[in-house]
Amino acid sequence: MLAGNSTGKEFTITSFGESHGKIVGVVVDGCPAGLPLTEADIQAELDRRIPADPKIVSARIEKDKPRILSGIFEGFTTGAPIAMLVENKEVDSADYKAIKDLPRPGHADYPARIKYGGFNDYRGGGRFSGRVTVALIMAGAIAKKLLSQFDVDVLAYTRSVGKTRSDKKFSIQEIRGNRYKAATRCPDLTCAEKMEEVIVEARKEGESIGGVVECIAVNVPVGVGEPMFDSLDADLAKALFNVPAVKAVEFGLGFGIAELKGSESNDAYVIQDGKVATSTDNMGGILGGLSNGMPILIRVAIKPTPSISAKQKTVDLSTMEDSVISVKGKHDPCVVPKAVPAVEAAVAVILADHMIRAGFIPKVLGNKK
Ligand SMILES: Cc1cc2nc3c(=O)[nH]c(=O)nc-3n(C[C@H](O)[C@H](O)[C@H](O)COP(=O)(O)O)c2cc1C
Repeated sequence: MLAGNSTGKEFTITSFGESHGKIVGVVVDGCPAGLPLTEADIQAELDRRIPADPKIVSARIEKDKPRILSGIFEGFTTGAPIAMLVENKEVDSADYKAIKDLPRPGHADYPARIKYGGFNDYRGGGRFSGRVTVALIMAGAIAKKLLSQFDVDVLAYTRSVGKTRSDKKFSIQEIRGNRYKAATRCPDLTCAEKMEEVIVEARKEGESIGGVVECIAVNVPVGVGEPMFDSLDADLAKALFNVPAVKAVEFGLGFGIAELKGSESNDAYVIQDGKVATSTDNMGGILGGLSNGMPILIRVAIKPTPSISAKQKTVDLSTMEDSVISVKGKHDPCVVPKAVPAVEAAVAVILADHMIRAGFIPKVLGNKK
């Protein structure tokens, strides 16, 4: 895909692999030495990717087994690059041959075919598949483990599916304990069931549905971020927009802040337990591109899955005539539940990079005994 598959300056990740190729993998470089890490850490995050409920996910249910190929010695990171991969097993490319010349509306097929002269691996969406988030989630597993050594926790969950949304204010404990309990990844378990009905209904109609993933990062110290041009919100938004199907990212009150007056939007400073805090978090924990010590609050809008079986207009690129497409194959009727761990991973990777850059995470974690 030409260059552009890496992110980060100190904690860098390079993603590789396609949906129907042999593997999906990632190289993490710059992870400090001395972090305890095993394949089980990566497995735990990958297991969160696919809800154990066949009603709301695609029929492509793969038990991804990660392999760590380098950068670990006697259970700890060494400071050398960490290469990781999973094999693609449940691959059936037949449905894609049939629509090779019929670009799916809403998917990347058309611009990718033009940009890469038709050489791109279009099977299963190739490099544009949601499957590629496996690489991000593996890197995110390392970032999350690293951040946890410094008490930073990144928690994503579903806020809404279509028009069904939970307006509940969740405590951190509730999010931590409940976010992966329901297949829809909503910590409000009553609303989670309603969301599931909405997804099942969409699938029955040959349709798909979108939603909103919310993410909160807690205990990020004050002063993380490098303006300009690497302000924390800019880098987080960039990473999140690289998660397929993300169409909007907002921090704190986001677009809602445009309707307020300064006295309503400003977060007033207060002393809490002897420390500086703010009484509200309308800014989502970021001021001037720097973390301000309050929870970083992000909302991500996920579009409805492009591949739907309902008939849609498209064009036949081999004849240059109008055509119609009904997409077959293994597709998620709603991407939102699977996007939750990907959002968590994207945020964790950027925070790990910026915390190293700002000097909050050293390059070596202690001394080996
Ligand atoms: C976890 C995940 C799973 C996805 N599954 C599907 C799918 O089954 N079918 C599909 O058409 N799109 C799926 N997508 C969305 C497409 O990959 C995405 O819409 C497409 O690459 C175009 O990119 P864009 O939406 O960011 O513009 C998925 C995305 C994610 C994050």
